Amino acid sequence: MQGAGDVCAGDTRRAESTYRCQTALLRDPEPVPRGLAYTPGMARIHLIEIHEQSWCPAFLRDGTTEYLEFVIRKGRFYQPVAERLIAAVRRVGARRITDLCSGSGGPWVSLHQAFADAGIPVEVTLTDLYPNVAAFERVQSETGLAVELRNDPVDATRVPADMGEFRTLFSSFHHFQPAAASAILASAVKAGAGIAVFEASKRSLGMLIGSLLVPLMVLVATPFMRPFRVWRLLLTYLIPILPLLIWFDGAVSCLRTYSPDELRDLVAEMDAGADDYEWDIGEIPASVGRSPITYLIGTPRTQEPST
Ligand SMILES: C[S@@+](CC[C@H](N)C(=O)[O-])C[C@H]1O[C@@H](n2cnc3c(N)ncnc32)[C@H](O)[C@@H]1O
Repeated sequence: MQGAGDVCAGDTRRAESTYRCQTALLRDPEPVPRGLAYTPGMARIHLIEIHEQSWCPAFLRDGTTEYLEFVIRKGRFYQPVAERLIAAVRRVGARRITDLCSGSGGPWVSLHQAFADAGIPVEVTLTDLYPNVAAFERVQSETGLAVELRNDPVDATRVPADMGEFRTLFSSFHHFQPAAASAILASAVKAGAGIAVFEASKRSLGMLIGSLLVPLMVLVATPFMRPFRVWRLLLTYLIPILPLLIWFDGAVSCLRTYSPDELRDLVAEMDAGADDYEWDIGEIPASVGRSPITYLIGTPRTQEPST
């Protein structure tokens, strides 16, 4: 099934030549899918998320991103994007992916396997402004595959030009105000790198109401989370800071998430280079009962062979 908000011709199963998208086309109005779609009139609000603050204690930040990694892995949340991401990486011919804002590893345990199954031996570099090195090491040992970890802070808004031929951001593009978000895209373009952004959250009333269940989900999930940590149990059941923090940051994430139209605007606002890229922006259907995943994929336009 094709994503309802797709703007480019074709899906990943079609020939690559049909998989072209002119920047001008990005502004065409697209039907918004029903269900947990972006709620009309709900403006983007950039409140703070606690775990992204420099003053947030590392154990609270790690407790938040470790829960996110657990839920994403168990629920295979980003599995529906694998095919499209793999196709983009294949088009770029990248062998090294730099994942920005990796938190505790996000979806890479399962996505790495999808790359291996597709016969693309990519090396993934996990990075973050506040790297959770222990979590990166767990992803590395669990995959047994090439996952490189960076224990120095990597700011997604200041990525060294030589870092990877392809950049990814999962559940994190909403952390950036429009100017910074546009600069992240521009930085990838300047480096000639592919870039892919995926967001499972959505700025919708339905998802905000659904987020009220998050504290309960944290209470249920915590005994199954590894590694076992006494502080995690104390901060979940004795003083329930973690359930409340994860709910609050999750709700704020929804309010900050860019819609496909807003992602198109970010591309249009880039100073230079956008026309040298193919931009695929839209929503990928998720499994039944789940909201579609909003995505943006930018890849350098391939030169047409001269006749
Ligand atoms: C919601 S978590 C997402 C983690 C992961 N990608 C996932 O899917 O589970 C957002 C992450 O972005 C990181 N972050 C926030 N601002 C950042 C920045 N300017 N540069 C790099 N990482 C940043 C935070 O430390 C946090 O780990």
